[in-house]
Amino acid sequence: MIFINKQIKNLKPSATLAINQKVKELRAAKKEVYHFGFGQSPFPIHPRIINKLVHNAGNNHYLPTMGLESLRKQIAEFLTSYHKVPTAMDNVLVGPGSKELLFQTILILEGRFLIPKGSWVSYGPQIKSKGVQYDVLDTKLEDNFKLTPDILEAYCEAYPDEQKTLILNSPNNPTGAVYSSDELIGLSKVCRTYSVIILSDEIYALINFYQNTSPSMAEYYPERTFVFGGLSKIFSAGGYRLGFVRLPSEFNELSNTFRSLFSETFSAVASPVQFSAIEAFRMPKEIEYCINVNNTVLKLIAEYVHEKLSKFGIECTIPQGAFYLMIGFNKFKTKIKDKLNIDNSADLAIYILDNYNVALLPGLDFYFKPEDLFFRLAYVDFDGKNLIESNDL
Ligand SMILES: Cc1ncc(COP(=O)(O)O)c(C=O)c1O
Repeated sequence: MIFINKQIKNLKPSATLAINQKVKELRAAKKEVYHFGFGQSPFPIHPRIINKLVHNAGNNHYLPTMGLESLRKQIAEFLTSYHKVPTAMDNVLVGPGSKELLFQTILILEGRFLIPKGSWVSYGPQIKSKGVQYDVLDTKLEDNFKLTPDILEAYCEAYPDEQKTLILNSPNNPTGAVYSSDELIGLSKVCRTYSVIILSDEIYALINFYQNTSPSMAEYYPERTFVFGGLSKIFSAGGYRLGFVRLPSEFNELSNTFRSLFSETFSAVASPVQFSAIEAFRMPKEIEYCINVNNTVLKLIAEYVHEKLSKFGIECTIPQGAFYLMIGFNKFKTKIKDKLNIDNSADLAIYILDNYNVALLPGLDFYFKPEDLFFRLAYVDFDGKNLIESNDL
């Protein structure tokens, strides 16, 4: 007999895991699978970043808990120029991936948590694992599943006296949507009125198909916005496990709380990785050029997928950044129910994989209702190095 934490025990394996497991099995059986469930950068890490890692491989000491000063300084400069958020080094903390930093921030904050429909899979389970529920805010396809101020305001009016934390992600996983400056300004007004705290997940910030960078909520609402970013997406280095959080101006003193929590949990990010990250966030011209080429490739694929599927009458979000778009079969709901006796996205995802070898992730995992037949389509299951070299891009 073993007793384990109830909140952890109650976490369900996500439908995403089930699909990915099935894809593995099919591939092991030598079946060709069209894997649109996979959300990792297809491009190589820039050699400049690798060289710094190799050069520092002998560095076996623990580094400062909050990260190397020179790295935090470099990230502050990166945030100032690329996220357009003036940042001081003292407000930047480094951790083993933005996922862990999001989790620790959620752990630190009390009150209610809000997630817009069409958000990343891990926010919900992270909140639940500390024994707290979250509320899903409705979004609509015609808004590219972006949260609008009226929905946020209605929620805030219903819970005026409680601390509220909204998790906002732009460019967005799973929709590919990017919030414009005007949309963020609209939301920031409501946030200011009701003192909403924002966890702004900007891990895909520079993967934007129409601008060099994406507007940041911290530009319009610096006092209560935490910004999260890292190496994983922009620099194609998910396996390096390095992320950062920028503290809001009103909560500078929280750095001591984070420092204590970091020191009692992960201690510090791997030393060679921190040195290599300085090179990444320094953003030499060669690295910036590669990011632009990668974005050009992603944009072409996104437009192609969007155009082809729209022609078949499949509803799609308009991809503006990141690696994804959402596609919907709600128009065919009755036919699907009559012919297949399927009425939810999780079962339909399994059906599509079993019968067509096409892997999509069900909207259910992204806070859609089970009967809402939307799916995340990730278009990054290709060898980016090969593609760029063979096309002389
Ligand atoms: C929206 C979003 N936020 C955060 C993360 C986590 O990134 P990291 O590798 O920095 O932990 C991911 C990774 O898939 C993501 O898609």
